[in-house]
Amino acid sequence: MIDRFREVYGSAEGVRVFRAPGRVNLIGEHTDYNLGFVMPVALDLACYIAVAPSADGKLRMYSEHRDEMREWDAARIGAELPAHQWTDYPVGVAQELIREGFFVEPANLSIRSTVPEGSGLSSSAALEVSGALAFLNGRELEPLKLARLCQRAERNFVGMPCGIMDQYISVFGRENSAVEIDCRSLEHRDVQLPAGITFLAANTMVKHALAGSAYKERVAECAAAVEGIRQQIPEVASLRDVSVAQFESVANRLPEVVRRRARHVVTEDDRVERFVDASERGDLALMGKLLVESHRSLQYDYEVSCEELDFLVDTALGIEGVLGARMTGGGFGGCTVTMLRPDAVSGFSQEITGAYERKYGLKPTVYSCKPSSGAGEVKNFEKIPPQA
Ligand code: GLA
Repeated sequence: MIDRFREVYGSAEGVRVFRAPGRVNLIGEHTDYNLGFVMPVALDLACYIAVAPSADGKLRMYSEHRDEMREWDAARIGAELPAHQWTDYPVGVAQELIREGFFVEPANLSIRSTVPEGSGLSSSAALEVSGALAFLNGRELEPLKLARLCQRAERNFVGMPCGIMDQYISVFGRENSAVEIDCRSLEHRDVQLPAGITFLAANTMVKHALAGSAYKERVAECAAAVEGIRQQIPEVASLRDVSVAQFESVANRLPEVVRRRARHVVTEDDRVERFVDASERGDLALMGKLLVESHRSLQYDYEVSCEELDFLVDTALGIEGVLGARMTGGGFGGCTVTMLRPDAVSGFSQEITGAYERKYGLKPTVYSCKPSSGAGEVKNFEKIPPQA
């Protein structure tokens, strides 16, 4: 990566490298912007940015994957408008840093990412967080502020009203554990996953165009649900405040679609808590069952799944050694996550790949979901993997 940097910019003097991981969410989907619970793991798939100061006042970003260079006057980056392309993520981050009182220095950046784009494994959060670290280039920013700033970049500049999950786990990921995040208090705890199971992500290789607009629609429907519930229970400020029992007591007063959206969120929060508990007790069967319930709720109540995701989940559930499976991330394509016994991994990969290829003519990539550490500087350049 350093050689590439040198080729592109002529010199690699003073170069530093920052890394931020993608994630797979084990359970707790579409709960983060409702201030509820999520339980993701940071992956060893990550975005790496090599950065060195530039002497000519320019800010440059080179993407290895696209073999594409973009350039701005660093002093004017704060006035840039969205360009509806990959650079919006780092440019949005630069603008939030400026708002936070940081000076965005002229610099040359070279970007490498092993997080597949459009896969629902948060390539954008990985780019935002590594981008922020590269712009800061060693200057301190508290981890929680870093995560929130990157979330604001996506909301304000990219225009996606996302929750905090992806940026948070990219910053706070932990090697060997999943992380349960309380999206209201913004506190988390590491959750040890039981022995005897492993998680794999399987990529549908599709991302339906609906994803962005449907996400905004769901955010609005959840707000409508809160409004409706407040008529009966005034102290409710978000769906996070609603217990399953409370929901049932008011459900028939909500319009049909809004009722199903709220039912997903309220029951999903409950599933996260039960999943964490089952995980700590080593109740593998219950964990698997909760994953499947989560998927069905996303499929029928929240309606953010799609045919390809459902096919991968249903096929997985018929494979020897699989304990549970669900879609992960925003939906409408991207990945599923499957919980299975370690000795079933190679059989699973073969069977799922064969079945999906026969049906859709696409080869689904399967990724191991080994929990990895959160964002930071990479000191040992040998550890940087090749551009996928
Ligand atoms: C996307 C968003 C997250 C979260 C998930 C759904 O990944 O960026 O904030 O809402 O969808 O759980």
